Amino acid sequence: MEYDVAFVGLGYVGLSSAVCFADRGINVLGIEIDSKKLNMIKKSNSPIHEKNINELLQKSIKKKKLSFSKELKDVTKTKIIFLTVGTPSRKDGSIDLKYINQATKDIAIAIKNIQEYFVIVVKSTVVPGTALKIVKNLERYSGKKNSIDFGVVVNPEFLQEGNAINDSLKPDKIVLGINSEKDKKIMFNLFKKIYRKNLPIVYTTPSNAELIKYANNSLLATKISFMNYIARIAEQIPDGDVEEIKNAIGMDKRISESFLNAGLGFGGSCFPKDVKALIAFSKEMNINSDILQSVLTINDTQFMSVFDILKKELGSLQGKKISILGLSFKPETDDIRDAISLKIIKKLLDKKATIRVYDPIANDNVRDIFGKSISYASNSESCIKGSECCIIVTEWKEFKNIKPKDFTRLMKRPLIIDGRRIFSKKKFNKLEYHAIGLG
Ligand SMILES: NC(=O)c1ccc[n+]([C@@H]2O[C@H](COP(=O)([O-])OP(=O)(O)OC[C@H]3O[C@@H](n4cnc5c(N)ncnc54)[C@H](O)[C@@H]3O)[C@@H](O)[C@H]2O)c1
Repeated sequence: MEYDVAFVGLGYVGLSSAVCFADRGINVLGIEIDSKKLNMIKKSNSPIHEKNINELLQKSIKKKKLSFSKELKDVTKTKIIFLTVGTPSRKDGSIDLKYINQATKDIAIAIKNIQEYFVIVVKSTVVPGTALKIVKNLERYSGKKNSIDFGVVVNPEFLQEGNAINDSLKPDKIVLGINSEKDKKIMFNLFKKIYRKNLPIVYTTPSNAELIKYANNSLLATKISFMNYIARIAEQIPDGDVEEIKNAIGMDKRISESFLNAGLGFGGSCFPKDVKALIAFSKEMNINSDILQSVLTINDTQFMSVFDILKKELGSLQGKKISILGLSFKPETDDIRDAISLKIIKKLLDKKATIRVYDPIANDNVRDIFGKSISYASNSESCIKGSECCIIVTEWKEFKNIKPKDFTRLMKRPLIIDGRRIFSKKKFNKLEYHAIGLG
């Protein structure tokens, strides 16, 4: 075999995993149907923004550990095929399997006449039972038999955008949904080479592996919405402060301190999509998902606290100059899929405000959506200059260095809405400082 593994789909998950596997000495074939994306990747110019990804790409290509193809039929050059295509939301929240179905059909046709045992590894996020559908599709189009000619393994991905390389190289856990000893051996031998010692592997069934991914993300989303609910209460209490509550409850080991930050809510390509998919999946089984519905309701309305403050402080927003710092759905990425900034900009435009925005790397992506209806600054100083209110939407590190005196010096009115609690309330108490969860 020419390659140890193939990745089908070189998006956030496929590309990050491919470069990390290649860096650990695995021979990787990356398959991507989008020619524009593929051409960029071949030139070591990653279409996604992740720390060190271009360096790793360049190194792996040079060492001939990473090659590429646009053709799915090339999966036959390996025996382990990772599916890393997208699983977007349908209107009703359920996941759309069109990319998975197309890729599995093409894989089946490709392997039809090859006398080798293939393992197809589902890394895309899919609801329980999908691996079974994939098995049926593969059998149907290849004429081969599951467990005899091929195996299907579920290996959900837990990386966080903005930290994808680190998460791929040092995952907290590797979940493997496996049906046979043969597949277990093949996967163990592969992962042993990549992670060497202390392999944190959880072996389970394919359906449990599928559900683990949704349970994982839904619980994290629940923590965030829960803290936003507590923040709403704290805001109504004189000297209430959700930060103090967070610090205290985070000391409880049963709770842990992570994902307790109150703010403007979660966005991105995973949490909203995965929570909606689990709700839709529960509905099929007549299982009540009020708990997750509330998580979404809190999240969908959380950004409105900005408008409550604006209404109180500025009245009508027509012609008012509002600056926005941070556009990506989280720091260290330029991904704006389902980003809170988009909701805020849309609503500000409805109210005819004059908007100036700045993000260290996501300006261009936002420009693709809003064009000339808003203006774009090349740094935070020029963004806030002359504005009557500044809203912090994404907690980029560089924003934390802006001093109260910078706001007073540059803004027409130093009205700050700290949507991510990045500033110290003590240092900012001389300004008109408002923050999520601050009474
Ligand atoms: N982005 C994340 O942080 C993250 C984290 C964990 C899990 N996931 C899950 O992983 C999956 C992939 O997510 P993503 O963000 O990487 O998606 P993405 O949209 O960034 O990338 C998917 C890629 O697959 C390509 N593709 C589609 N069909 C193809 C085919 N037949 N052959 C070759 N390439 C094909 C697309 O062109 C695209 O480049 C999803 O199920 C997602 O829910 C994403």
